[in-house]
Amino acid sequence: MAGIRMPPEDTDASQVRLPLTTDLISDDDRSVAADSWSIKSDYGSTLDDDQRHADASEALAAAPYRAASDYSSDKEEPDAETITSMLGFQSYWNAQYADELTNFREHGHAGEVWFGADVMEMVASWTKGLCVDISQKQVHQHHDNDNSELNKQGDIDLAAWSVLDVGTGNGLLLQELSKQGFSDLTGTDYSEGAIDLARSLADRDGFANIKLLVDDVLETKLDKKFNLVTDKGTLDAIGLHPDGPIKRIMYWESISRVVAPGGLLVITSCNNAREELVAEVENFNQRKAGEGAEEAKTFCYLDHIRTYPTFMFGGSVGSRVATVAFLRS
Ligand SMILES: C[S@@+](CC[C@H](N)C(=O)[O-])C[C@H]1O[C@@H](n2cnc3c(N)ncnc32)[C@H](O)[C@@H]1O
Repeated sequence: MAGIRMPPEDTDASQVRLPLTTDLISDDDRSVAADSWSIKSDYGSTLDDDQRHADASEALAAAPYRAASDYSSDKEEPDAETITSMLGFQSYWNAQYADELTNFREHGHAGEVWFGADVMEMVASWTKGLCVDISQKQVHQHHDNDNSELNKQGDIDLAAWSVLDVGTGNGLLLQELSKQGFSDLTGTDYSEGAIDLARSLADRDGFANIKLLVDDVLETKLDKKFNLVTDKGTLDAIGLHPDGPIKRIMYWESISRVVAPGGLLVITSCNNAREELVAEVENFNQRKAGEGAEEAKTFCYLDHIRTYPTFMFGGSVGSRVATVAFLRS
C-alpha cells in the first residue's frame, strides 16, 4: 500500500514527509462521509455543520494563511506553496481500504501499520503512562497524603477513561490501547472500508468490545466527549488536501468539542515537528480567546515522546515522527 512509509534507515531526512502528488487526484468525496453516516443511538448529532464551516472560514481569513475564499474549488490546481497529496482525499482512502479489505479476506493481512509497529506500541504505552499520572494526581487531590490502595498505579482504573481514535484506519492502535488496559474504546474514520476492516480485525483478534463508527472528524456527528482522544496520521492526511490550511482549522474546532474538559489529546505526526504542532495549538488558543472563550487556553502542551530515534539533517536534529500530548482545559 502506498502512503506514509518509514524511509530506509540510512535516510538523511529529519522528518518523513507524506508523498506529494499534487496533480494525481482532483476530486473530493467529502459528501460521501455525510451520506454514509451510520452512527446511531448514543451518538446523535446536535452540531450545526454549516456554522462550523463558516467559523473555520472566518478564522482562516484572520489567520496568516490564505483566505478561505482563495480555495474556490477542489478541482483547481493547488498553490505551488501548498503541500498537497492524494492522501488528502477520501477517494484515496476508500480505494486503499477496499484493497486492504480484499487482502484481509484473501490472506488475513491487517494492512498498513502507519509509522510502524514500534511507534504504535510506544504511543500506546506512553499514553497509558500519561493517563495513569493524571489519574494519580486526581486521586492525590482527593486523598492528600493517603497511602491507601487507591494510590497504587495498578489500581488506577483505565476503564474509566473513554477513548476515541480519530481516523482509526484498521483500528490497530485501539487494540494496542486495549492491551494496555483501556476498555472504553471507540474508533472513527470517514472511510467505510476502514471501519469494515477495523471491525473485521477487532472481531478476529478478540477485541469485540471496540466500537467502530463511520464519521468525518471535520464534521463530526459525535456529541459525546472523550477523556482521551488519539490521532495517528489523521491530521497529517487532512493537511495534505489542497484546502489543508482551512481543514486544519476545522480539525481543531471539531477536536476541541470531542475532548472532555481535563481530557487528553495525543497526536502522532510525521508531517509536523512537535514545535509546529504546539504553535498550531497556540494559534487555535488565540483564535478561541479572540472569540471570547471562557478558558485562557483551550489546549495546553503537556508532554511529548522523547525516545524516538533522532537524525541530524542540515545541522539540526529531528525525529521522523512526533507524538505530542495536549491537555484540554
Ligand atoms: C495515515 S492514515 C492513519 C490510519 C490510522 N490512524 C493508523 O495509524 O493506522 C489516515 C487515516 O485518516 C483517515 N481520515 C482522513 N481524513 C479524515 C477525516 N476528515 N475524518 C475521518 N477520518 C479521516 C483516513 O481514512 C485514514 O484512515
